[in-house]
Amino acid sequence: MVRHNRLFWKIFFWFWLSMVSVMVSLTFALSVLVDPADILPERRALFRELETVGRVLERLPGDRFEALDTLTSWHASRGFRNTLYVFDGAGRPLGVREPPGSLRDFFRETRDATEYRMAVRDGQVLLGPYRLEREGAEYLAYLVKSKPTHMLHKLWRLISHEPSVFLVLLAVSGALCFILTAYLVAPIRELRAAVRRINEGQLDTAVSAAVVSRRDEIGQLGQDFNRMAGRLNRLVSAQQRLLRDVSHELRSPLTRMSIALGLARRKGAGGAEGEHERIEQEISRLDGLIGQILQWSRLNDGGAGAGAGTLELSGLLAQLVDDADFEARAAGKRVRLTQSETCRIDAAEPVLASALENIVRNGIRHAPAAGEVEVRQRVAGSRAVIEVRDCGPGVPEEHLASIFEPFFRIPEPSVSAPAPNGSGLGLAIAKRAVEMCGGTVRAENAAPGLRVVVMLPLSAKASAP
Ligand SMILES: Nc1ncnc2c1ncn2[C@@H]1O[C@H](COP(=O)(O)OP(=O)(O)OP(=O)(O)O)[C@@H](O)[C@H]1O
Ligand SMILES: [Mg+2]
Repeated sequence: MVRHNRLFWKIFFWFWLSMVSVMVSLTFALSVLVDPADILPERRALFRELETVGRVLERLPGDRFEALDTLTSWHASRGFRNTLYVFDGAGRPLGVREPPGSLRDFFRETRDATEYRMAVRDGQVLLGPYRLEREGAEYLAYLVKSKPTHMLHKLWRLISHEPSVFLVLLAVSGALCFILTAYLVAPIRELRAAVRRINEGQLDTAVSAAVVSRRDEIGQLGQDFNRMAGRLNRLVSAQQRLLRDVSHELRSPLTRMSIALGLARRKGAGGAEGEHERIEQEISRLDGLIGQILQWSRLNDGGAGAGAGTLELSGLLAQLVDDADFEARAAGKRVRLTQSETCRIDAAEPVLASALENIVRNGIRHAPAAGEVEVRQRVAGSRAVIEVRDCGPGVPEEHLASIFEPFFRIPEPSVSAPAPNGSGLGLAIAKRAVEMCGGTVRAENAAPGLRVVVMLPLSAKASAP
């Protein structure tokens, strides 16, 4: 148990130890270094009071001064809250009130002093002596204040005189440290449990809102953890889906090949031309598919080198459209670059070129017979916008976002049935490549046809040659 809670006890004991040692050293320093009399805030007021009282005493009519029994009540009636004591030259107190023992000691220490002294003894503030002369005799007046008011001083007295108070402080600080430690360690424990769950394969794990909503580093750690777990979960499920789809995609041509092979065997060496052709077709289809899968996985590894170097976009497009147009002519269609503005963007040329090629090829494939694919490029703000539009059947609205998912093809009955040889990876590869260049891609129906819009951030080094 203790082993598992090591961090808790470490934090707890260190906090507590430092709290206790601060308390002890503060008390010690106070008792050794600070004379309580020096830190009393009422110091000045007491001095003034003694002066005033002393002067009044000097001028008091003789008989009243002799009747010092009433001195104390006289002093009190003047609105002074402290007690006045007067000693005669021989050290005898005047009046009926007995001076406390501490004042007697203080009197002995200070009877020859030439200026005022102040001391704190037995919880009382002692001040004096004020020397006054009456009819040739010398008297010494002292003031005693019963309770010093300074907080620090009270604390010091409490700690140094009452060990039980120290024990209470110890317990209170211990409780505070316990709460603080629990506050710090609880979320760490929760994070640890979450890490363990992920380790056990529960990828949909997240830490609770109580941790995430904290406004401190632990809260930030919780948020980062949830983001990481979410991404991990998405990545792993995407990989699993991809693996399933890839296996499925690879199996179909293989099945067709083995059927063709069986037929060819039965026909013998002579009459199997058709089957051989079929097998050759399927092999090249498999080859293409594997090539695309490799390209897709390279892009997802982030190792495709996107963002390496800058390129001039209109030049790239001109070359690309030229090649695509050459291909399209074979099917009686055209690809045209209708507008293009010079601009530079940060991207690796092969990655971006193949992404755009995939989009343009789709256009050619889906354009009607003798139709045209229009490629337009302009600069809008800090972005380059490339639009590829064909006049084909377009894509049903509900599939507009899905066509960018790997292996997605429009279901059969639709007007824009998939190309017989399409793998459904083309747009997924294009989207990933564009995103790696910091851009976005979306598709919209342009009635007629489909418009694919690619936006890419302009290079920060746009003016460079
Ligand atoms: N211009 C378009 N017009 C109509 N439908 C389109 C267009 N472009 C794509 N699609 C639809 O989106 C699906 C996904 O396109 P994608 O390019 O990813 O795959 P593909 O063209 O079938 O195969 P590949 O590009 O890998 O050879 C296509 O199967 C097609 O149904
Ligand atoms: Mg395609």
